[in-house]
Amino acid sequence: MANVEIAGLTKTYGTFRAVTDFGLSVRDGEFLIFLGPSGCGKTTTLRMLAGFIEPDGGQVTLGGRDITHAPPHRRNIGLVFQNYALFPHLSIFENVAFGLRRRKQPEAEIRKRVTDALELVELGHLGDRLPKQLSGGQQQRVAIARAIAIRPDILLLDEPLSNLDARLRLQVRDELRNLQKTLGITTIMVTHDQEEAMSVGDRLVLMRAGMIEQVGTAQELYYQPANRFVADFIGRTNFLSGAAIGNMFRSAGGCRCAADGIWVRPPRS
Ligand SMILES: Nc1ncnc2c1ncn2[C@@H]1O[C@H](COP(=O)(O)OP(=O)(O)O)[C@@H](O)[C@H]1O
Ligand SMILES: [Mg+2]
Repeated sequence: MANVEIAGLTKTYGTFRAVTDFGLSVRDGEFLIFLGPSGCGKTTTLRMLAGFIEPDGGQVTLGGRDITHAPPHRRNIGLVFQNYALFPHLSIFENVAFGLRRRKQPEAEIRKRVTDALELVELGHLGDRLPKQLSGGQQQRVAIARAIAIRPDILLLDEPLSNLDARLRLQVRDELRNLQKTLGITTIMVTHDQEEAMSVGDRLVLMRAGMIEQVGTAQELYYQPANRFVADFIGRTNFLSGAAIGNMFRSAGGCRCAADGIWVRPPRS
């Protein structure tokens, strides 16, 4: 089981709180999204899960095993970054084989897993090329193949689509979604793009200033936002000040309408 339990995760830089008391249960096989504006702590949280940043407090368990202080290579986590981070002097095949060679897998097993991973991202025919001979979209698919070749318990992706142009971004996004469903790997992806988040994620974790504002499906965040920040961040929202009286809403300007289906919140929530 690759369910992840995160409790009270905290990271402070000097006096600045980058992540505060972050708690969450990630279900086995789930595609979860960390969403929020730039600087809200998405990358810091992901890197604490990967083991590259030591938290100041809190706990992470993976399938019941406490990994809070385990080094990255003991976590069996697949990682994909924004900038592909392929080795320029290694062939595509060897890039994907890298993690398997480090784990000292037998040669026949390496051949099989690399071939399978490249087939999954539809690049089986390009194993002999160098990264610079591939397009950006293809390079990012190699990075994804490399991450899944080690058969990780969890896949962590930090803005994996943001270096791609608009058309490729949609294509790789759909491929990633299909691949995740086919393989059933528990996946956490970071993005600041709400449309991207809503189109691929089973659930979204919307963050602000190092804290979680709301966790839920795209529909839940859209139709039942926990507060004004969520309503503002998700979708295109118009805000009207006024008062709800029974089933009626009366705007500050005197306009009345039925409040049925309108989301009404007290001010300053
Ligand atoms: N090494 C660091 N030293 C000081 N501040 C940092 C460091 N890394 C990140 N931060 C700060 O922590 C906050 C969260 O950063 P980050 O997790 O990268 O945000 P996000 O990925 O959501 O854009 C930002 O305000 C950032 O400037
Ligand atoms: Mg980031």
